[in-house]
Amino acid sequence: MTDQYAVIGNPVEHSLSPGIHAQFARATGQDIAYGRILAPRDGFRAAVAAFRAAAGKGLNVTLPFKHEAWRLAAVRSGFALGAGAVNTLAFEGERIVGHNTDGVGLVRDLTHNLRIVVRGKRVLLMGAGGASYGVMEPLLREQPATMVVANRTLEKAIELVGHFEQLQSRAQQGIAARAYAGLSGSEFDIVINATSAGLEGAMPALPEGVFAAGALAYDMVYARRTPFLEFARARGARVADGIGMLVEQAAESFFLWRGVRPETEPVIRLLRQN
Ligand code: ATR
Repeated sequence: MTDQYAVIGNPVEHSLSPGIHAQFARATGQDIAYGRILAPRDGFRAAVAAFRAAAGKGLNVTLPFKHEAWRLAAVRSGFALGAGAVNTLAFEGERIVGHNTDGVGLVRDLTHNLRIVVRGKRVLLMGAGGASYGVMEPLLREQPATMVVANRTLEKAIELVGHFEQLQSRAQQGIAARAYAGLSGSEFDIVINATSAGLEGAMPALPEGVFAAGALAYDMVYARRTPFLEFARARGARVADGIGMLVEQAAESFFLWRGVRPETEPVIRLLRQN
C-alpha cells in the first residue's frame, strides 16, 4: 500500500512541499503519496488524529502549527528539542516523533549549495520568531565567530539569546541581541533574514555598513526579489533566497521518513526555472 504523507498548515494551498516530495519520490523510487491538509486554526490536533487514523505515516508542519506540533510530539529529536518548534512529524507505531529540519536545511544550503564556510564568520540573524528559533542551534554548531540576533522588538531578541545561552560558547565570541539601530558600526559576513517582513514587501530597518566585503545576504523567504535582497544587492553583497533551504529541509524530512536521501540539486534547479 502507498504510504501517505502531507503538509499541514493554515494557509497551505501555496505550499511547494507536495511537488518537491513528489519529485523526491520519483527520483528515489519510493512509493509515497504526499498531500495538503488545511487545518482550522483551533483544529490541529484533530486533523493530525484523523490523518493518523487513516494510516498516515508522517506530516510536515507549517505555520501556524509548529509550536503545537512540538507540544504534541512524545519524542523530540535533535534540534527540535531546543528549537521549541517541530516541522516534521513521524508516526512510528503508537509514538509521535517530532523533528525540526529547518536549521539543517539552512546550514546545508549555505555550506553545500552556496559553498559558504560559517566557521569563524560574523553572522547576523534578523528576526526573533519561530524561524529564528529553528535555525539557531544548527548555525551555532558551525562555530561562527559571532552571532548577533537583531529584532524590531528588542525584548524578543534578548529572550531568544537567553533561550540559547547554554550554546553561547559555540560562537567563538559569543552571541548577542541588538535592535537594528544598534548594528551601526558592525560588519557581518553572513546576514540572514528570518523575519516575515519580505512577505509584506518590507524589510528590517538595517543601518548602512552592515555588509562586510564579500558578504552573503540570505533571505529565508523564497522570492528572488525581496526588499532586503535588493538592498543587499545594491550594496555589493552576494544574495540568496530561501528556495535552497526549502528543498534541503524537505530532503531531510524525506530522509527521516524513508531512510533515503534524495538529490536536491535537480529539484532546486527546477523550482528556480518556474
Ligand atoms: P515566525 O514564527 O514565522 O518567525 P513570528 O513569530 O510572527 O513568525 O515572527 C516574525 C518575525 O518577523 C519577528 O521577528 C518580527 O519582528 P517583531 O518581533 O518585532 O514583531 C519580524 N518582522 C515582521 N515584519 C517585520 C518588519 N516589517 N520589519 C522588521 N521585522 C519584522
